[in-house]
Amino acid sequence: MKNILVTGGAGFIGANFVKYLLRKQRDILVVNYDALTYAGNLESLSDLLEEKRHIFIHGDIRDQSKIEKTLVENQIEGVINFAAESHVDRSIDNPGEFIQTNVVGTLNLLATARKLGIKRFLQISTDEVYGSLSSEEAAFTEDTQIRPNSPYSASKASADHLVRAYHHTFGMDTLITRCSNNYGPLQFPEKMIPLCINNAFCGKKIPVYGDGMQIRDWLYVEDHCEAIWKVFLKGKSGEVYNIGGDNQMTNIDLVRTILKTCGRDDSLISFVKDRPGHDRRYAINFSKIKKELDWKPKHDFASGIVSTVKWYSENREWLDHLTSGEYKSYYEKMYSGR
Ligand code: NAD
Ligand code: DAU
Repeated sequence: MKNILVTGGAGFIGANFVKYLLRKQRDILVVNYDALTYAGNLESLSDLLEEKRHIFIHGDIRDQSKIEKTLVENQIEGVINFAAESHVDRSIDNPGEFIQTNVVGTLNLLATARKLGIKRFLQISTDEVYGSLSSEEAAFTEDTQIRPNSPYSASKASADHLVRAYHHTFGMDTLITRCSNNYGPLQFPEKMIPLCINNAFCGKKIPVYGDGMQIRDWLYVEDHCEAIWKVFLKGKSGEVYNIGGDNQMTNIDLVRTILKTCGRDDSLISFVKDRPGHDRRYAINFSKIKKELDWKPKHDFASGIVSTVKWYSENREWLDHLTSGEYKSYYEKMYSGR
């Protein structure tokens, strides 16, 4: 397939994916469709201004006529849907927006893709749909029961069900990937790793929710991009593929590692009130994608975090731009009660 629609390609993983794809495939047209919410940033795509194989379209995935026009005019063959409201804390403050984009938007994309006979539809989902694990429980497999705990994960799980239903009922060629926590360049600094790096640079306190003993499985974003493209090219229609980093870590260990990498000590750590309904542990069993598609992570966390800190230190303007204005006031409001 030559002409691909990527939605949400001005966000963190989407922008990394667009760049990965343009590096990887010579013969491709990437149409990047993004609403440019607070999380979307054209500066993240500034190095693609002269790139003829990349077209940016400012639009909302809920806008049926614009999606249809985009798919027809660019002779799109495949769709990869990254567009989403993605931050758990915001979903607790305002669940409605998450239902609108993540559920209604995905349904609109599916319906329009079906109407136009799009060959393949890949939904970028998350390990959070599986819920939370105790320290003894085995890692999530693709057969683990869906038990979303936050409005964010509930909206992503709903979208997954719609994708599955479009395959089962209408015979559409769909796929779903469910990945663990990503880190790397271009991540909006409301998420834990860029927030921690930014605060460490500025000598500001780092808010650690609850006891800091929650566990996440961190994956370098480029490894995620590679897995997504493998699934899109070779994944079996109708299937779900888990993607993980094989790198479980407590939040407090993560923060200490980042502080050390930034040349700061632990005095910046500040324990704050916990996130309501906070999932304790995520862990991903990704043996299916490893066996069927020969994928495993290439970056280890020790080197990945060093290059990530280096990227943010070399791109302070990108960070400063995002930490001013609307985001700053949201951030201050959010932490004022903690
Ligand atoms: P992000 O918040 O950085 O980017 C989301 C992008 O979607 C932004 O560019 C935003 O402008 C765009 N967008 C939002 N609403 C839109 C709408 N209605 N129409 C069109 N565009 C819209 O998110 P991210 O971290 O890059 O995550 C991308 C996808 O990957 C999401 O679907 C998320 O659920 C999933 N995911 C993320 C992670 C992670 O660790 N970040 C892990 C697993 C899965
Ligand atoms: O697991 C995949 C998911 O990872 C994605 O689906 C989501 O889109 C993505 O945002 C991420 O969700 P998390 O809630 O795990 O990520 P976040 O970076 O917000 O938080 C990581 C952990 O750090 C989590 O346990 C909450 C904690 N945390 C977070 C922030 C922002 C803190 O302790 N303090 C903070 O200030």
